[in-house]
Amino acid sequence: MKRNHGVVLFVLFVGCSGPAPQPAVEPQPVHADGLHNVFRLSDRLLSGSSPDGDAGFAALQHLGVKTIVSVDGAVPDVAAAERHGMRYVHLPVGYDGIPRERAVALAKAVRDLPGPVYLHCHHGKHRGPAAAAVVQLCLDPAWTPERAEQWMKAAGTDPKYTGLMSLPTKLAKPTAAELDAAIGDFPQKAEVPDLTRLMVAVDERWDHLKLAKDAGWKQPPGHPDLDPPHEAVQLAELYREAARLSAVKARGPDLLMHFSEAETAANELAAALRQPNAEAARKAFGRVQASCTACHTAHRDRPTR
Ligand code: HEC
Repeated sequence: MKRNHGVVLFVLFVGCSGPAPQPAVEPQPVHADGLHNVFRLSDRLLSGSSPDGDAGFAALQHLGVKTIVSVDGAVPDVAAAERHGMRYVHLPVGYDGIPRERAVALAKAVRDLPGPVYLHCHHGKHRGPAAAAVVQLCLDPAWTPERAEQWMKAAGTDPKYTGLMSLPTKLAKPTAAELDAAIGDFPQKAEVPDLTRLMVAVDERWDHLKLAKDAGWKQPPGHPDLDPPHEAVQLAELYREAARLSAVKARGPDLLMHFSEAETAANELAAALRQPNAEAARKAFGRVQASCTACHTAHRDRPTR
């Protein structure tokens, strides 16, 4: 009896004095096959890239991860996660910032779902680290806005994403009660807007074209189904489809102008690859690339409201 009493008193004492202040520990880089830009932020949270196929999911399982949170627009590979004993949560965000409600949902998911949690975007550099910063600010009192900014810089977040970079200073932290009250029914696959879905497809075509470029405009080794001119034709088609979306038309003529320029550049690349003419392909590739950046700068990367 006496001993039990002592234990209770000890617990009360620790409870009242609070945890001893811990020195801020830098997020630790983690190297694993099939994953890129991985950092451990706490016992509960890792940040990194989207897993590369089975090797990536196996690496996560090996790291003990139980829940994967994606903030990317791409459809999560829920089946692969399940095969490796993990569950997906899909809470996509844009490059222009994270609305507070989404920040609260992310924090709740990381707080309440089985951990460790792996939080990822596509490359693990911009949206993912920004989301991880917001989660840490919501959940860990030792995280100050300065520390969150330092973490984003260390993760490689590009300062041009002003809506992401300003999150740490702008965030109004939720209380524990607000987190308790938030909806905890997280989707494994979220509904994403048509434009986001098309952009994920654009990005995939673009990755294929980059592989073709590295292979001297020939079919890249290890990709027997990849036909470079066809990839460029598909890219042009995706732009045409995007320009027909009512949500895109509603955003005004400048966005449509960018889509038309991008489509012309993609068609030029397709023609050069069909000839084939390496010099013309190199030029057209540059024009396509410039059209991605020009449109994103005007219509994606910064808050517009
Ligand atoms: C004409 C404009 C335009 C062009 C050209 C364009 N994009 Fe986009 N892109 C956007 C917009 C707008 C968004 C944000 C969509 C949204 O609201 O989710 C976006 C989003 C994206 C995303 C994020 C998807 C996600 O996970 O949420 C990726 C990746 C992307 N674009 C890649 C590319 C690449 C690569 C190219 C060039 C090969 C390209 N885009 C060309 C307008 C464009």
